[in-house]
Amino acid sequence: MDDRDRAWRGLLPARFASMTLRTRIVAYVALVTLIFSALAFAGVYRLIIAMDQRRLDDALRSLAAEEANHLATRGFTFGPSPDVDVEESGPLLKHGAVYDEAGSILAYVHFDRAPPQFDSIPSKKVDVPFDFDFRGEPMRGMLSPIPGQQSKRLLMAVSRADVEGDKVFLARAMIVALLFNVIWVVLLVHRVVGRFVVGHEQLADAARRVAAGDLTVRIGQQVKDPEIAQLAIDFDDMVDRLDVLMRSQQQFVAHAAHELRSPLTTLYGELQLALRRERSVEAYRECVRECLESTERLKMLAEDLLTLARLGGERTETMETVFISDVVQAAFREVGTLAGERQVELDVQEASAYVTGHARDLGRLLRNLLENAIRHTKVKGRVLVRVIVEPPQVVRIVISDEGPGVAEEDRARVFEAFFRSAQTRASHYEGTGLGLAICREIARAHRGDLALVSPTPSDLAGACFEVLLPLVGFDRVSRLPSSLPSVG
Ligand SMILES: Nc1ncnc2c1ncn2[C@@H]1O[C@H](COP(=O)(O)OP(=O)(O)OP(=O)(O)O)[C@@H](O)[C@H]1O
Ligand SMILES: [Mg+2]
Repeated sequence: MDDRDRAWRGLLPARFASMTLRTRIVAYVALVTLIFSALAFAGVYRLIIAMDQRRLDDALRSLAAEEANHLATRGFTFGPSPDVDVEESGPLLKHGAVYDEAGSILAYVHFDRAPPQFDSIPSKKVDVPFDFDFRGEPMRGMLSPIPGQQSKRLLMAVSRADVEGDKVFLARAMIVALLFNVIWVVLLVHRVVGRFVVGHEQLADAARRVAAGDLTVRIGQQVKDPEIAQLAIDFDDMVDRLDVLMRSQQQFVAHAAHELRSPLTTLYGELQLALRRERSVEAYRECVRECLESTERLKMLAEDLLTLARLGGERTETMETVFISDVVQAAFREVGTLAGERQVELDVQEASAYVTGHARDLGRLLRNLLENAIRHTKVKGRVLVRVIVEPPQVVRIVISDEGPGVAEEDRARVFEAFFRSAQTRASHYEGTGLGLAICREIARAHRGDLALVSPTPSDLAGACFEVLLPLVGFDRVSRLPSSLPSVG
């Protein structure tokens, strides 16, 4: 999640942000539908009410004009009794009253007891409808001049109770319609969106379970949408790799603990034995030697583990240009003693190649491979290193020996941490089994690789390991072949 996303999420209520995608989409659509439908319904409501009002006003106006003419021709008598003849027209009951210029009532009809007393009659505009309350009843009225009698005004009024009732009914009907509209849209969107986001939901659910530590989760073929289906395949691949990684890590820790325990047990036992009773100087010396051997093994193991951890972590040192010949020569010098002990001849066929990397690590890579080759080659045998430049990109370093090679069933496992073949375990050499794992890590850290390959006719017939590294430069005049004299 980037900063903008975080900021945006910060504006949303926490509960909303934690909803599923489907719920959020439905909530958005429901909200938008509600707002727009409410606006539309409100507009329609106002329009209908305005049209009703206009119809009523038009009817009132024509009625008032008609009655005023009628009064002008027929005349009317003053007094409290209803005298103004207001005819019924349409279903509305019309109320009429005649006022003099001071606002006093001269005559009225259909007004219960007496018509309303308006202080403002003289100043009220004629022919303009207005609302008023008469004994708790809402009414709409209009003042009209009576032709020939300028000082008198005719008030025509109708009850607005029906209109108000219609308004309430219309408002209720619209609210019900609005709710139905929103519910219908929510159901529809929930269903439609559900079909689209079902893959997202499965993915999100699977990701949540993986985050909680369940690496048995797989999405498989359940998703129909092609893009999400590809995402599901990638997700399953990722979980597969994660699973393998977790397992190998657990296995690694178990192996490491086991490897650490053996020398520690020896050390502990020897020291306990030494303290139990008095011994001869020679026996003590033997005990100290045993302890030293175990300590050396522990030290070796700790160093190898540290190297592996260092290679797997972030590197801060910058890479330099490394001349492969220098690395080979340095590695030869380091394994010289071991080669001498086994009277092994070290041969090299060099091509001058440059790579970028860490000289120390590349040195360690070659030394480990040479040590293995020297240990497994026959006594007085040979170990051959060939540096082959393959412009423009690759340099291959092939190390072969005259040993028995790696058994078919072990070939896939030699690069596993702590793996040692049964043969090697039976021999007196007690390596940690981390050598090749470290070598491969080093090669890969240099964007290269290390593989156990079949020897070509140019190689020796035993085990043959090939290091591939990206080439950054080479000299055309190679120093081929150059052979070191047997160290033995
Ligand atoms: N040149 C080789 N010939 C035959 N087998 C080999 C050769 N190199 C490695 N192996 C096999 O691969 C196993 C793993 O090698 P690796 O270098 O990782 O461990 P190691 O040599 O046993 O111990 P370490 O290198 O950690 O001291 C060896 O134990 C051996 O069985
Ligand atoms: Mg080794």
